[in-house]
Amino acid sequence: MGKIVAVHSYKGGTGKTLISTNLAVTLAKFGRKVCLMDLDFRAPSLSTLLNLNNAEYWLNDYLNGVCEIDKVLIDIGNRIGCQNRFFVGLANPSVEAIRDMSSKDRKWEMRALGRLLSLRDSLLNAKSFDYIIFDTSPGLQYSSINAIVAADLVVVATTLDNSDVEGTRRMLQDLYDLFEKKTEIVLNKVMYSDALMSGRDKLQSMVKNVYGVPLLGVIPCFCDVPRAEGKIIFVHEKPEHPFTRILGDVAARIDKLQV
Ligand SMILES: Nc1ncnc2c1ncn2[C@@H]1O[C@H](COP(=O)(O)OP(=O)(O)OP(=O)(O)O)[C@@H](O)[C@H]1O
Ligand SMILES: [Mg+2]
Repeated sequence: MGKIVAVHSYKGGTGKTLISTNLAVTLAKFGRKVCLMDLDFRAPSLSTLLNLNNAEYWLNDYLNGVCEIDKVLIDIGNRIGCQNRFFVGLANPSVEAIRDMSSKDRKWEMRALGRLLSLRDSLLNAKSFDYIIFDTSPGLQYSSINAIVAADLVVVATTLDNSDVEGTRRMLQDLYDLFEKKTEIVLNKVMYSDALMSGRDKLQSMVKNVYGVPLLGVIPCFCDVPRAEGKIIFVHEKPEHPFTRILGDVAARIDKLQV
């Protein structure tokens, strides 16, 4: 039985795209069959990050009922030495598509949720995928709520910024709890010294006290990440970097979780 993991956050820019992409690649490198999906229809990033700008079909088409999911998936496993194990589904980055997706009504969103839920059958069961990883829009966008409802595990990326902490706490109480979703926190962009071993216990108990959910990982602020300018898959290009080791620990923990 495979797992659907949604990477979400309250505020924008907390590292969802960075974490979801590198988590997906790490799991593929562990030998899992993985599909990474860009559900951030308001600001699609994966087509640019992965340099795939002329997809024939997008996830927009799948959710609109225009095509089936196998038309959307692109196999890019050979780029990371994981033949037939790393697929992506892209959101259409054109202005027209972004405007179209932000004008959908409730009825359309309900149908889109049905199509997301059926990925469990079409990909996890029929095509033996081990993971579907959703990169989402921040906050309470309908598309993100749909992603959370369809997921087995929600990974919430948050920083230690006070407004992020407060918003995340409220979201945990009012949203994830409502759907009874297994939720874990990744603290991102943490000051390097706080993320070291001495600070780790403190962060662990802070997360337990404030959010009441487990701490999945702590990622320091690394200058090398913005320096890469969103042009590389970090864990693939920099296997010796501490970021890659941390993502390895996060992926191993997710792999062990019973959901
Ligand atoms: N640990 C980190 N250290 C340094 N920079 C980071 C770290 N994590 C993310 N960043 C930088 O923060 C910016 C936002 O990251 P990313 O795009 O992954 O966030 P996001 O949550 O997907 O944003 P959005 O909500 O806009 O989709 C990027 O420039 C990225 O390089
Ligand atoms: Mg993003």
